[in-house]
Amino acid sequence: MIDLHSHILHEMDDGAKSLQEAVRLCALGRINHIKKIVATPHFNALGDIDNFISQRDEKASLLKSEIEKNNIQTQLYTGAEVFVDDDIFFSNNLKRLTINNSKYLLVEFSFYGLRIKHVSDYLNELFSMGVVPIIAHPERYEFFQSDYDAINEFASRGVLFQLNAGSLASRDGREEFELAYEMAFKGVASFIATDAHSLAHRPNDIGEMLRQFPQDINPELMNKMLVTNPQIVLNDDDMPRIRYRRIEKRRFY
Ligand SMILES: [Fe+2]
Repeated sequence: MIDLHSHILHEMDDGAKSLQEAVRLCALGRINHIKKIVATPHFNALGDIDNFISQRDEKASLLKSEIEKNNIQTQLYTGAEVFVDDDIFFSNNLKRLTINNSKYLLVEFSFYGLRIKHVSDYLNELFSMGVVPIIAHPERYEFFQSDYDAINEFASRGVLFQLNAGSLASRDGREEFELAYEMAFKGVASFIATDAHSLAHRPNDIGEMLRQFPQDINPELMNKMLVTNPQIVLNDDDMPRIRYRRIEKRRFY
């Protein structure tokens, strides 16, 4: 599997606190069949990109040499999880933060006080910058939980979605699970990733989480979300137009 979203680099954000913990997360991922990890530290749209990239790359190369020393068969890539708010209209060079220097940019939004109209404007702005937005954990936002149709609309515009494995494994709330399940089941989501922060908080034990997933998600879709689609991103190939069914709010219990 390929983990497209992780906070595995130490002392970059609220993720791994030490190089040792970063190595342990790589080892845990490897036991769970994660062969490729993309390190995506948090970045604010108006942050200092040069400084961010130099710190990130330095920590990634430290981690790479530790992985080798410890004989962990994991390949490490870099990107960022870009926090998008109104500052997006003043930022430039976000293209430099894409996953593995592809056209795909992982983005997140505020959990509070945001309307779909704002999100829509941000997405337009990202497309106009020439990047393809991948929305991280859409199932965690209240504005999507209460408006599934917005996701249908964004998907039709070519926006991509990454679910957190923990949501599908019911480690988060009921609303998160229901939206994640509906998106995975209907093929609207393109990726599942761990969003790993530490061994204690949102770890990357995805093998364990897979056992907790609803078992009726099409295995072909599962393979796409965990392996094929993330590889397309790493290769910077074009994502095939997704064929999905409209999602709708339903009750699973
Ligand atoms: Fe994250």
